[in-house]
Amino acid sequence: MATHIISSCDMLVSLTGTPGTGKSTVSNLLRKRGYHVVDLNVMAIEKGFTIGYDKKRKCYIIDEERLSKYLEKDLSGREGITILEGHLSHLMKHLDIVIVLRCKPSELKKRLEEKGWSEDKIRENVEAEALDIILCEAVSLHRNRVAEIDTTTLSPTEVANKVEEILATRNIESYRPGKIDWLEEVFW
Ligand SMILES: Nc1ncnc2c1ncn2[C@@H]1O[C@H](COP(=O)(O)OP(=O)(O)O)[C@@H](O)[C@H]1O
Ligand SMILES: [Mg+2]
Repeated sequence: MATHIISSCDMLVSLTGTPGTGKSTVSNLLRKRGYHVVDLNVMAIEKGFTIGYDKKRKCYIIDEERLSKYLEKDLSGREGITILEGHLSHLMKHLDIVIVLRCKPSELKKRLEEKGWSEDKIRENVEAEALDIILCEAVSLHRNRVAEIDTTTLSPTEVANKVEEILATRNIESYRPGKIDWLEEVFW
């Protein structure tokens, strides 16, 4: 993989994916293993980088530009690996690796139902996953630095192991996007 020189910390990683793909669960495991993981949603709200509240979706609208600029300063000079977690983390700048967690739409639906989400929010996210929205955004911004992990049949520990493997080797060859195609499942 080509080396990418960044202006902030040693290695800046985005752990992104449609809500329900397991970002927070995996992040908690990675924290326990000693990794520095930043929850971008929490940080954006704590630091006031919001530009309103979406009543329909019941969530804050985050000012990604200001969040990215803040991170650049906040992480400047930091050594080691920093993982930015959240469904907006791939929109940040200077990322060395972007890991997109994926989940088969039917399984994602189950996970979001178990979380007690509303039908509207479940549909919106299942559709977004089926259409590869986050993956496409990530690839258009970060090109060959994007990896994807299909979490459908993996346990959170197995997903965390794969993330660790990517971080340790800095090699995303076996995780290059393109192998996953949910459309077969949607239009059967
Ligand atoms: N690999 C997995 N296999 C099965 N269920 C999972 C997996 N990862 C997460 N979950 C479950 O799916 C739900 C959503 O996970 P969460 O980590 O909150 O996703 P995200 O942070 O991406 O929105 C949780 O109830 C969690 O327990
Ligand atoms: Mg989460």
